[in-house]
Order: sequence, then C-alpha cells, then structure tokens
Amino acid sequence: MHPYYVTTPIYYVNDFPHIGHIYTTVVADVIARDRRQRGDATYFLTGTDEHGQKIERAAAARGIAPKALADEVVDRYHALWRTLGITHDDFIRTTDARHRLGVEALIARIVDRGDIYADHHEGWYCPDCEAFYTEKELLPGNLCPIHERPCEWRSEENLFFRLSAYQDALLAHYDAHPNFIRPRSRANEVRSFVASGLKDLSISRTNLSWGIPFPGHNGHTVYVWLDALTNYISALGYGAAPDGDAGATAHYDRWWAAPASTRLHVVGKDILRFHAVYWPAFLLSAGLPLPTTVYAHGWWLRDQRKMSKSVGNVVRPDHLIERFGADALRFFLLRDMVFGQDANFSDEAFIDRYNSDLANDLGNTVSRVVALSRRAFDNRTPPRRGPEAALQVWARKQVAVYREAMDDLAFHRA
Ligand code: MSP
Repeated sequence: MHPYYVTTPIYYVNDFPHIGHIYTTVVADVIARDRRQRGDATYFLTGTDEHGQKIERAAAARGIAPKALADEVVDRYHALWRTLGITHDDFIRTTDARHRLGVEALIARIVDRGDIYADHHEGWYCPDCEAFYTEKELLPGNLCPIHERPCEWRSEENLFFRLSAYQDALLAHYDAHPNFIRPRSRANEVRSFVASGLKDLSISRTNLSWGIPFPGHNGHTVYVWLDALTNYISALGYGAAPDGDAGATAHYDRWWAAPASTRLHVVGKDILRFHAVYWPAFLLSAGLPLPTTVYAHGWWLRDQRKMSKSVGNVVRPDHLIERFGADALRFFLLRDMVFGQDANFSDEAFIDRYNSDLANDLGNTVSRVVALSRRAFDNRTPPRRGPEAALQVWARKQVAVYREAMDDLAFHRA
C-alpha cells in the first residue's frame, strides 16, 4: 500500500481559530479521506504552534502564562475539529516533550554539517509573521507586507543557518521535481526569490524565553519557525530514539523516510516561503528526505484584505456551524474558493450557495432519486441481496423511467 502522509500547518495559539484556519484543515482532511478511500495507507497530522513572541505577548496581554493560553486554545481546536469531522491521526503541540527531542536532533545534525554560526544581526522584524523583512519588501511606513502593521527594528547577537549555501541545491531540486511546489504560478515566485540570492537565516532569539533553549548556546532560544517546521517529523518520532530504539521511530521510517512515501504539506500562500525554501534547506543540511509536495492555497479575504486576527476582520465559524451545520460550512469552503486563488467571504455568498447548491440542486436531486426509486420498486426499498443483480434491475428500470420522461418531453415539445 502506498504510504501517503498529509499535514496542515500547525496553528498559532494566540487566538481562536477562524475560517482561514478551518479552510487549510478541511482541504487536508478531504485529501486524507480521498486517499483512504483509494486504498492508500494514509496518515494525517495537524497541531498547534505554541512558542514565540506572538504567543508570549498575547498571553501577557491576558495576564496568564503562555502555556495556560495554549491549553485553552488547544481545547477549542480539538472541539472544532470534532464538530467538523476532521479525521486526523495525530495532533502535535510544539510544547510536547516528543517535539523538543525532534528539534534537538535536527539541530544536532545541522551543527554537525557545520551550517550554524554566531553573528550580529539587525533588521525589520514582524512579530505577527515572526520573520525579518528587507527594506525592499516592506510597505511604505515600514509596514509588514502581509499584516500591514508596523515592523520593529531588531539588533541582536544571533545564531545563523547557512541558507546561502543551499541556493543551488534548492534550485536544482525545484527543477528536478516539478511537483515540489504547487500550483505552478507559486513555484515560479519561489524560484525567483531563491534565484535572486539567499541570505543566511537567523535561527535563534536572545530576547525571548518562551521557546526551546538552543542546544549548546545559553541564553538563545530556537527561532520559532525552525521549531515549528520540525513538527512534521517530530510528530512521527524523529529524534525520539537517540539510543536507537527502532519502535520509537517506526512512524518516521514509514511515513517520512520510506523513499516511496508521498509527503504532502498543505499550506496557505503566506507561509509558502518557510515550507518551500527554509524547511527543505534545513532538511538538506541534515541529510534527511524532503517533502514531496508543498501545496499552497489562497486567502479568504474580507473587504479585499486577508482575514486575520491582526487586521481584526475574521469570521468565526461557531455561528455558521450552529445555524447551517458543519457539512454546509465544509461544502461552502471547498465550493466557493478556487484552490490556489483568493476568495472573498460574505454572508450573502454563503447563503446563496446553501440555497442554490445544497437546498435546491442537491435537495432536488435526492428527492427525485427517492421518487424514481419508489416508482421503480413499488414504494419499497430496493433489495439489498446480490448488489450487482439489484443494480442491474435498478439501472434497467431507471432507463425505462428516463425513456418515459423523454417521451413525455418530446410529446410536450411537439
Ligand atoms: N504557525 C504558523 C505555521 C507553522 S507550520 C510549520 C502559522 N500559523 S497561522 O495560524 O497563522 O496560520 C495557519 C494556516 O492558516 C496557514 O496555512 C495560513 O495560510 C492559514 N490562514 C490564516 N489566515 C488565512 C486566511 N485569511 N485565508 C486562508 N488561510 C489563511 O502561520
């Protein structure tokens, strides 16, 4: 059986989930369900990203500890995924002990490769993205290009990853694996970003205590994206067996290390660079297999702006689910957005879809099929015995009924 591993990004716990988060998860869930139906051995992972300044600040604003905030939000995620029928096999939290083992093991391999060094670093930092931007990338007024909020000037001693050393290897990988980044249009964007020259990446923070301590460097905390990206393998047991206990890494061996496995990350376009540039570079350095595909979807917009907590224009799912049901929301999200492109969320669009596609089209189809079936089987449920024989009888009768209907129609037209 073909091993198929599909993941969602792990969600920040600074706030409760909104439609954008649900979208990524529902898409991954549909892929996982489809694979299982096709008979592939499938493993579906989701989880939460709990370290970093963003979470530290959100917790401080509420006067609680970051872990207490995380626990509260994680409960909401669990409840929501249950309501929405999400069929994940595992849920990883970056505060799990197993995750820390994975991060430490990955860093140890990158250190062995000689790809980490200390240096002074300064630049514009967006705390919402947890990332530095060059002046060229900023919007006027030093605003973050994603959140349109002010970036902060940071100047500190950091540990660096030799990202620049992987520029050629990344380009070669993209060329040799045309499905590595999908859709194609996004692959071109990433390719030109890499081809325009990669700078080394700062992978530790000194002014942050809420995170994983950087092994061997007192006072340094692992950069939240290096921490977070590792979830895809730490959840499978990577790093769990420093003493070589094969049982502890069985999932890693099966879903990630097996050459024939598919390893698919579904992500939003805002975090494609982290998944298609930084993550494969870390893995190349560590000598580990890369994901097979990173698939990026577009944004749910409200008033033409990305829906996000920082912008303050989010749509909460609770009310929609309560009123229309979880399936209606799942259907709407998949039906109304062209995968890969942005879509505007509006209550009108939701209600139109509900009325036209579900109540009208699907509702009518079901009621017609039931009526036909009643006619064809004398008001009885079709026999269950011998499914093929029953199907043939069913099909013959459908054809007869259909012909009759066409005759009627011809008659009326004439
Ligand atoms: N914690 C990081 C991901 C780390 S993965 C190793 C993160 N978290 S997030 O909570 O901000 O976003 C998670 C996912 O939700 C991303 O795929 C993001 O694109 C998606 N969405 C958040 N807002 C969105 C919309 N308005 N529309 C569609 N999806 C968006 O980034």
